[in-house]
Amino acid sequence: MRPHAVTAVAGTNIALVKYWGKRDVALNLPATGSLSLTLDRLGTRTTVVFDDGAADRVYLDGAEAAPAFASRVSAFLDRVRARAGIDARARVVTENSVPTAAGLASSASGFAALAVAATQAAGLALSPTELSELARLGSGSAARSIFGGLVEMARGERADGRDAVAHPIAGAEDWPLRLVIAVTAHGPKAIGSTAAMERTAKTSPFYEAWVRGVEADLVAARAAIAGRDLAALGVVAEHSALRMHATALAAEPAIFYWTPATLAAIEAVRSLRAAGTQTFVTIDAGPHVKALCAAADAEAVAAALAVVPGVSRTIIAAPGPGARVLEVT
Ligand code: PMV
Repeated sequence: MRPHAVTAVAGTNIALVKYWGKRDVALNLPATGSLSLTLDRLGTRTTVVFDDGAADRVYLDGAEAAPAFASRVSAFLDRVRARAGIDARARVVTENSVPTAAGLASSASGFAALAVAATQAAGLALSPTELSELARLGSGSAARSIFGGLVEMARGERADGRDAVAHPIAGAEDWPLRLVIAVTAHGPKAIGSTAAMERTAKTSPFYEAWVRGVEADLVAARAAIAGRDLAALGVVAEHSALRMHATALAAEPAIFYWTPATLAAIEAVRSLRAAGTQTFVTIDAGPHVKALCAAADAEAVAAALAVVPGVSRTIIAAPGPGARVLEVT
């Protein structure tokens, strides 16, 4: 039988309550829960076919992938092969609509799309929860991109990670939020999230306090979402991001993702807020700034960010659907 090529897409997600630290590095088990918004326009499209090739072949954005990326994909495919009881190598073609590894969370959409495409191409039929668990093994944040809209990721208690999975808490259509992304720099980030989390956990004197504080943020964020209270959700999101960066900054050597443009963009958002617009920042493991706001304010927020020195581009992203199969050929 000719093998099927399965194409899947996934939107990236941006955490409003951040994940920063692992309780188990090998299984990518998070030290805390987290909560995020899956986005519509930014994401990954991946095609997987298990064929008679001698080795896995991985293409990223139109070119052969770098060895480090390709071996991360192969290691993930090994888990899928083991589960499906197959041995065939795969051809993987993946395209990001976000700059890879620039702190715009391409690993989240990347491993979510790969989990969906590879399992179906291998003949497996996994539930969304099982896909979330699998995607987590590729990248912690990828577990959340299996679902659309507002999503919570559980820390889980089990050593095997079966309960460290995400679940949706509000659909993409349920609340007209926007994330305005101010792209502030090009090129890959200074230090990848896994290494940065490990260094933070080992050396930051603030790490334990960070971990202790996340549960209260999750409680507040859930309540804000239930009440569709943007101001309350925004306050939690902004301090979660700032505390994450403060904790990382206190590591040795310091983990420093910000540039002058990052700070200027934060200032622009805070000025808008002082003038009456409900908008709040979040920042991931990179220099870009993302402003959470109501759909009605997104154009004004984007216009204010576009004129900040060092901001090269703004993108308005809306809540989007979860990872899904696009076509089977
Ligand atoms: O999924 P990873 O290993 O790339 O880590 C994600 C880390 C942050 O984006 C900074 C926070 C988060 O919760 O997404």
